Amino acid sequence: MKIRISRRRFNQVLVSGTILSAINQLPRRMQAQAMEPTNSLASWTYDVALSINGKKVTRNIDSRVTLLDLLREQLNLTGTKKGCDQGQCGACTVLVNGKRIKSCLSLAVTHEGDAVVTIEGVAEGDELHPLQKAFIKHDSFQCGFCTPGQIMSALGLLKEPCGQTDEDVRECMSGNLCRCGAYPNIVAAIQEVRHGGTP
Ligand code: FES
Ligand code: FES
Repeated sequence: MKIRISRRRFNQVLVSGTILSAINQLPRRMQAQAMEPTNSLASWTYDVALSINGKKVTRNIDSRVTLLDLLREQLNLTGTKKGCDQGQCGACTVLVNGKRIKSCLSLAVTHEGDAVVTIEGVAEGDELHPLQKAFIKHDSFQCGFCTPGQIMSALGLLKEPCGQTDEDVRECMSGNLCRCGAYPNIVAAIQEVRHGGTP
């Protein structure tokens, strides 16, 4: 049986689904408030406490603000880059509770209590992380715009069950684009760290 649905109705369903999905990601106390008929998505702000690079941060945040914009616009952590702002390039990758995510796709208010690590929190003082050293050694960047996201994504990958070959690494890093085409050098740097080489 064919079901006909108008474009307008389809868009309404899509938008409703997106809003409900966003509501489902909120902490429970925020969900109840969100479902009150007098409230609208446009009017909420919440006090959110989270850890950024090991420091506790509390901010009153508009519910529409992404984690990426919180980092860049409110906390001045501009190492995390905004490329596509649509989840396609990986320039905005950060770690949340040890897992890599694209921060442009994640609402900041859903990160109450989370531990976020950005590229600014990777080195230990003046001592670069082995991945950062390996990127330098293998010349794994040209313009450098994608590099923070590549390194954060690679950090996440180190703890994932990714296969051993270069092809496996390319697949595991496929969410991070590099317009300069430094892919072979990026893979070489990651593989050196994975296989215990000394950058
Ligand atoms: S800016 Fe987030 S994926 Fe491109
Ligand atoms: S080094 Fe230029 S986009 Fe990757």
